[in-house]
Amino acid sequence: MAIDPRELRRCLGHFATGVTVVTCRAPDGGPHGATVNAFTAVSLDPPLVLVSLERRSKVCQVIESAPFTVNVLDAAQQELAMHFAGRPSQQAVPWETDSGCRAPRLAGCLAHVSCMPWQHYDGGDHILYLGEVQEFRIHSGRPLLFHTGKFHHLGDNFDPVPWEGSGDAPSGMSWFTGGVFADRPTPSP
Ligand SMILES: Cc1cc2nc3c(=O)[nH]c(=O)nc-3n(C[C@H](O)[C@H](O)[C@H](O)COP(=O)(O)O)c2cc1C
Repeated sequence: MAIDPRELRRCLGHFATGVTVVTCRAPDGGPHGATVNAFTAVSLDPPLVLVSLERRSKVCQVIESAPFTVNVLDAAQQELAMHFAGRPSQQAVPWETDSGCRAPRLAGCLAHVSCMPWQHYDGGDHILYLGEVQEFRIHSGRPLLFHTGKFHHLGDNFDPVPWEGSGDAPSGMSWFTGGVFADRPTPSP
């Protein structure tokens, strides 16, 4: 079956994500950013995250060999998301000037993950970049979400369905340890 790229993109857009801006230093030394929702956690030991970037993007030419920051956007930062996706905003970009990090980062975000390049892989018309986490910070707020080509905000009705109920619960150190299920006993194997 021939895959229609537009339809495939429409299908994949049903997977809801957060929104990040990947920031780095451009070759001229100035700060540069690109809006990216193809961001995922990869490993805790070593600490690795992944971003998938279009080959032709400017950010691709930089982060292969330079530190970068993944800035997780707050619900109030939709205009910033569009700014770094090629629709310049009239508002000043809230660069954090005294971050002390090797890569620039944005103020007002939900979280920052500062990385050094670890490895990159062929991803067709994209390149998959793994970053080794050097430092991270968590701030308070609510996330900006992206689904079916539109921005969304998290609803108030959150029902923490117990992961243990699936019978497939991870035990020991996992992504869920310390999260909403932290107060529940670890099920026996
Ligand atoms: C919500 C949203 C998510 C995006 N996610 C990605 C992504 O995961 N990877 C990517 O390469 N481009 C993504 N883009 C497009 C880039 O932000 C856009 O091409 C940007 O201009 C690239 O920046 P640069 O070429 O200046 O580095 C996304 C755009 C939006 C609005």
